Amino acid sequence: MAYETIITEVNGKTGLIRLNRPKALNALNDQLMDELGAALGAFDSDDGIGCIVITGSEKAFAAGADIGAMAKFTYMDVFKGEYITRNWEQIRRVRKPVIAAVAGYALGGGCELAMMCDFIIAAETAKFGQPEIKLGTMPGAGGTQRLPRAVSKAKAMDLCLTARMMDAAEAERAGLVSRVVPADKLMEEALAAAATIASMSLPSVMMIKESINRAYETTLAEGVQFERRLFHSTFATEDQKEGMAAFVEKRAPAFKNQ
Ligand code: HXC
Repeated sequence: MAYETIITEVNGKTGLIRLNRPKALNALNDQLMDELGAALGAFDSDDGIGCIVITGSEKAFAAGADIGAMAKFTYMDVFKGEYITRNWEQIRRVRKPVIAAVAGYALGGGCELAMMCDFIIAAETAKFGQPEIKLGTMPGAGGTQRLPRAVSKAKAMDLCLTARMMDAAEAERAGLVSRVVPADKLMEEALAAAATIASMSLPSVMMIKESINRAYETTLAEGVQFERRLFHSTFATEDQKEGMAAFVEKRAPAFKNQ
């Protein structure tokens, strides 16, 4: 499929998606979100891909939903779900890990998109924020829900109510991002992390993702039980036999994703 608002490429076993509306700081319009959903779905079902990276430009991961496109919508336009939010949950349906590699602005829907990814690697230039309040609206793609889970209620309230931006160092201290690297090392770091993940057994990778995500949806006792069942099920895979045999035989494992 030919995309106009994103660029996709395959780097080894990593699917790379670059948001590409540079004149609008990668503002997220419906076309971009449709294309992002399609690209994610294609990489997710491609057996040659083990991990996905979403990135933007040096200046912006994404400066939010497209304000110009949104400005004219009525309540019923958005409530019917045909615009803005229609494809935003697609990213949560992806079974393989998705890393956000963030440089520059990740604001509003851009911050929410980054938070829908499984983890965020940030350049020192990254700036995160939920400035929707300045537009007379509010976060609409999980900002008020994922941000407090990631950075605490206090910081989420602060960011969403004052619209201030948080730099990469503060975001790392708060737990929003997993690593901060110099801007010129961002893609190298993100692609290396993705390659490491893609070299592991895909059943383990997918089960770990599913299990960690379950931690946000359930009680500790239920979550531990869910984890235990998945752990048991790894013993039905060839990769568990191979991984443990390789350790015992002091050699590298050759996983078959089976
Ligand atoms: C549409 C945008 C945009 C956006 C920037 N642009 N952000 N267009 N939607 N979210 C456009 C500008 O209009 C401008 O176009 C060009 O990108 C460059 O932006 P500048 O403002 O000139 O750049 P700069 O001075 O460097 O300021 C950068 C910025 C600022 C601080 C990021 O652009 C900004 O505040 N943007 C809006 C951020 C925001 O409010 N995001 C939340 C959106 S609401 P021209 O044509 O003039 O050159 C949202 C709701 C999510 O995300 C709901 C999800 C369901």
